Amino acid sequence: MAHQDTMEKLVALCLNRGFIYPSSEIYGGINGFWDYGPLGCEMRNNIKAAWWQRMVRVRNDMVGLDSSIIANPETWVASGHVENFHDPMVDCRRCKRRFRADQVDSRCSDAEDGAHDLTEPKQFNLMLKTRIGASEDSAIEAYLRAETCQSIFLDFKRVMGSSRQKPPFGIAQIGKAFRNEITPRNFIFRSREFEQMEMEFFCPPAEASDWFQYFREYRFQSHLDLGIDPARLRWHEHGPDELAHYCREAYDIEFEFPFGWQEFEGIHDRFDFDLKAHSAHSGKDQTYTNPETKERYTPFVVETSVGVDRTMLVLLCSAFTEDEVGGEKRTLLKLSPSIAPIKVAVFPLSKKIAEPAERIAAELQRRFNTAFDVSGNIGRRYRRQDEIGTPFCVTYDFDSETDQKVTVRERDSTEQERISIDSLPGYLSQKILGY
Ligand code: GAP
Repeated sequence: MAHQDTMEKLVALCLNRGFIYPSSEIYGGINGFWDYGPLGCEMRNNIKAAWWQRMVRVRNDMVGLDSSIIANPETWVASGHVENFHDPMVDCRRCKRRFRADQVDSRCSDAEDGAHDLTEPKQFNLMLKTRIGASEDSAIEAYLRAETCQSIFLDFKRVMGSSRQKPPFGIAQIGKAFRNEITPRNFIFRSREFEQMEMEFFCPPAEASDWFQYFREYRFQSHLDLGIDPARLRWHEHGPDELAHYCREAYDIEFEFPFGWQEFEGIHDRFDFDLKAHSAHSGKDQTYTNPETKERYTPFVVETSVGVDRTMLVLLCSAFTEDEVGGEKRTLLKLSPSIAPIKVAVFPLSKKIAEPAERIAAELQRRFNTAFDVSGNIGRRYRRQDEIGTPFCVTYDFDSETDQKVTVRERDSTEQERISIDSLPGYLSQKILGY
């Protein structure tokens, strides 16, 4: 009950403070689709920037890609998704509701004992279809991509040829993916439209196991570096009956959500499944020949795959805190400064000294997303920023006029420090960016 309570409070905070809204709400919404408000889109951008920095920018063996959402539909025949990307689905003959066969966890509303009367499981393909072309007769059926990585495989040779990379090297991509989930639920945990951050690492077959271990550790550490509580993270190894059709070995990083332990990120050993499948299906050779040894092989692939939305939910759940300050209850998001939608808020103590405070805010806006707030007493202004995770608040008071100093207050400890206005940008850069 307490956990459900946490989830309800978090959903309300996200709605009221402009993080996440139901899509097309005035028409009753649409199940499995969400809109991200002013703070939500800032936070998503920060999540993507942190991932890109870690996966692409700081590495010499990784490059980026931004491919189209819709590809030639043969892509999905070759990848095995048309044949294998199914979930087992059951219907209740009494209440007429539809469930994923492995997730029937509610009571039947039309049965006294609450027991569903379920049909035999049927396979349900999760790919969303659309039609491309102007006329009904000539239009072709295509798929909205179910994972972003397929185009990475299709562009592998182009990227290698144009970026002077050769195995071992990786291609990273961030982009939308779509799945016609049977039971989208738990807020943004499982949606029908979501965004993935995927990296495919191409390496000689003999090195695949070592790179798999390496990226397991690399990804786990990156979650710890964002401040996620290690006690709420664990590994789950996929058993033979859980492995996706393209996987030889797979581990999930799981997070303890308020609704239980669930998948956060997948690390997959896809061996040469995809490149071989596309080579056979397209007739275009996808092997690589090492120019020094003349060895020719199909690279093996280690994949890391995590959702932007899923990461956002993990970070929000992990950051959501209720405590007491000076005998008053407060709600705060203990977000890492790199992820917080607003990094610093500037408050003039009174409207009479708004102008110099505004000048400080304008200076800080050149570096960080900075808010400026003149309304309400200072305590209330602090609480508003705490609730949306702003790590620093800067107050310009009447003494600032003479000593050219401001008070910087840190969100979690509420500790305050007096800093000279000249050194404020550098001071905050050190705290927020680490340099
Ligand atoms: N390319 C491999 C792949 O797509 P996956 O385990 O199906 O693997 C990877 O998905 C990650 O994408 C998941 O760990 C999760 O973070 C995110 N994800 C998958 N389905 C999702 C959904 N319906 N809603 C939100 N995020 C999803």
